[in-house]
Parts: sequence; structure tokens; C-alpha cells
Amino acid sequence: MKILVVGGGGREHVLVWKIAQSPRVTHLFCAPGNAGMASLAESVDIKADDVEGLLRFAKEKEIDLTVVGPELPLSLGIVDRFEAAGRRIFGPHRAASEIETSKVFSKSLMEKYGIPSPAARVVSIEEAIQRVPTLPMPIVLKVEGLAAGKGVVVAKTPQEAMEGLERFKAMGPAASQIILEEYIEGLEISFFVVTDGTIALPLASSHDHKQVFDGGHGPNTGGMGAVSPTPRLSAEIESEIMSKVIAPTLQGLASEGTPYQGVLYAGLMLSAEGISVLEFNARWGDPEAQAILPRLKTDWVEVMEATLDHRLDRIKLEWKEAAATCVVLASEGYPGSYRKGDNISGLDNADLPDVFIFHAGTERQGDRWVTRGGRVLGVTALGASLAESRHKAYQAIGRISFPGMHFRSDIGATG
Ligand code: GLY
Repeated sequence: MKILVVGGGGREHVLVWKIAQSPRVTHLFCAPGNAGMASLAESVDIKADDVEGLLRFAKEKEIDLTVVGPELPLSLGIVDRFEAAGRRIFGPHRAASEIETSKVFSKSLMEKYGIPSPAARVVSIEEAIQRVPTLPMPIVLKVEGLAAGKGVVVAKTPQEAMEGLERFKAMGPAASQIILEEYIEGLEISFFVVTDGTIALPLASSHDHKQVFDGGHGPNTGGMGAVSPTPRLSAEIESEIMSKVIAPTLQGLASEGTPYQGVLYAGLMLSAEGISVLEFNARWGDPEAQAILPRLKTDWVEVMEATLDHRLDRIKLEWKEAAATCVVLASEGYPGSYRKGDNISGLDNADLPDVFIFHAGTERQGDRWVTRGGRVLGVTALGASLAESRHKAYQAIGRISFPGMHFRSDIGATG
């Protein structure tokens, strides 16, 4: 079986790593891929948003299954385009992916189908600016559309809210709609299901750490680390999430004529008042995938095929008992503008038992590894307990260095 993975970050590296373990795979490609996965998949020089280029490649190489990592190609309708051309592809259709790409669509879906989420109001950017002095703080401000991880501001003061709105305004006309959302205090988790639109199987639980600095300080990033399972989730809450969030969301999407297939990611806040959906994403989380997939025993290719063939009822996902911690090593300056081209040393030394190093932003120059992205590497370790997996991950990290390297030292430490 020939498989093409679309994307080139840490999430795609772990997907390629997992897919490569399937006995069914004969050829594995990744477009554009990254240097770190070269031993597992052939990198293809086609960008993840070049839908026509990817389709031409899939036809030419007779790819049996295409797997989409990031949201951008989903928002461009890659799944619809491939299916129209008779090619198998795993991921949601364009309309269903709006659950991530349009915060206004997602919010109205949640309101219409009674899915618990913070109270919110959609306003123009001008109205948001006018109302800021009268708004209760903290408040969450979100800009409509995809904003490459920069579309959400949690403002504690009117001044922070104003600064956030000014940043949104600088994005131009695309940032015309703003969602003013109630701030909810609690513990965040990342909850994933694999679904064919009707049947949904929960994946192993996880939480990520979004702020750049220890203790949850500093600006938000795509995620500085993740653990699986998360101690924040009990079996009771998981079943409540399945019945109060996942089931009505899938039914709602189907009723709207946009049934969902693929991995659905609910970003949830667990608070004294219960469960609230902060956002949905139409894909695996990154770095959550780097903590969850190393724990999965079941063949992920089989799971994707079962999703497309509507036989998920016959799949039982099996997980290693082990806990996983993934810590992201980032370039100096990230999540702002960051340094590139620095020598990475110690990668071979860090290849310890139960440690997996996933590349997100690296490049091979001769026999050297150099930095090329904001998030450079994800170091995942498995251990008998969360504490043991943390210990192993940080032990491996102690052997890796590059100028300006920074990472959080408290991944998985804060319950
Ligand atoms: N870790 C957050 C995300 O993937 O969106």
C-alpha cells in the first residue's frame, strides 16, 4: 500500500513514524516532509497547500491513501478534490473543517446544538474596540478565520485587550469579525476522537502546555509540550464528553449536511461548572500527537481504512500502559520571529531507550543538523508513570543543544 502524508512538522513526523510500522505499507511519502523523517518516508517537494500538485503526485504514483496533517489544505478542500478525482484520503471535507477554520461557524454550531461552551458574542473589530473599556476582565478575544496560532488573546486588563485588538486589526480585512468570549478558569485538556461521522472512538487523553514559559507565563504558542494520558481526565468525565460534546457535535454537523470524517480535536476547559468547549480543530494536535501516537498499539493505517469504510465498530483501539511526555525544543525568539540556521548537537547521544525524537523545524546540511523552524524538535519519552516519562524526556533533552534553545521545564508537572 502506498501512502502519502501531507505536512512537514512534528505531527507529521510522528504520523509517518506510526504509519511506517504498519505491515501493510510498501511505500511512504511525505509532502513536503522534513529532514528528520528521511529514513521513514520519501520527502516530496510539494507544499501542503498545493492541492492540485498533491493530486497530480497521488495520481502519478498511484497513492492508495493520502493522510492530511495540517488544517490549511483541509480549508482549501483537499479532501473534496481528491474524492472527486476518485482518490482515497483521510480527513474532513472542507465544509466540515470549518469547525476549526471558522470560529463563527463553530460557535453557532455549538449554540444551535446545545454543546457546552463559554458565552460569546460576534462583533465587528470597531465595536470590539469601543466596548473594551466596559467589558469584564479577563476576557477572551478571538479573530475569525485561520490566524496561524495568533488568533486568540486572553486579556486580563482592558489595555491587554486593546493591544490584542490592535494586533488583529493589523491582520487587515480578514480580521473583520471578532468573538468576545467569557473567560473560564479551569484545567484545559485536548480530547481527540477518530470518527466516520457516526461512530466515534475516543483516543488516549492528553493535555498540552500552550504558553511559552514555565508556570503558564508568556504568550501562547502552538504548544510547548504535551502528556498522555492526562491526569486531568477521569473515566466519568470522558464519558460525559462523549455524550455532551462529541455526539451532539457529530449529529449537528451531519444535520447541517457536513458530516465529519477523520480525527476531531476538542479543546476543552474542565472547571467547577463542568465541561466547556473552547475550540474545535479538524486534525491531530501538535504536539499532542507526539505524546499519544507512541502509546497506540493498534495499526493506525487499519484505523484510517476502517474510518473510510464505515467499520469503526469493529476496531478496538489498544494502548500501551505507559505514560508519555513530549517536550518541545524551540528556537530563540519563538513564538515571535526566531533564529534559524543554528547547529544542533547531541541528537545521536539523545537516542535513549523509550525516547523518540520527532523533528519539526530542522534541516540537514552535510553531516550537520541545523535549526529551521520555531518549534525545532519534540522529545517524547515513555515511562511506567508520568513522572518517569518526564524524567526520561528531560534526561534526553540534557544531551541536545543549539544556540538559543529554550523549552519548558514543567511539562506534565502541573496536574
Ligand atoms: N497543540 C495545539 C494545537 O495543535 O492546536
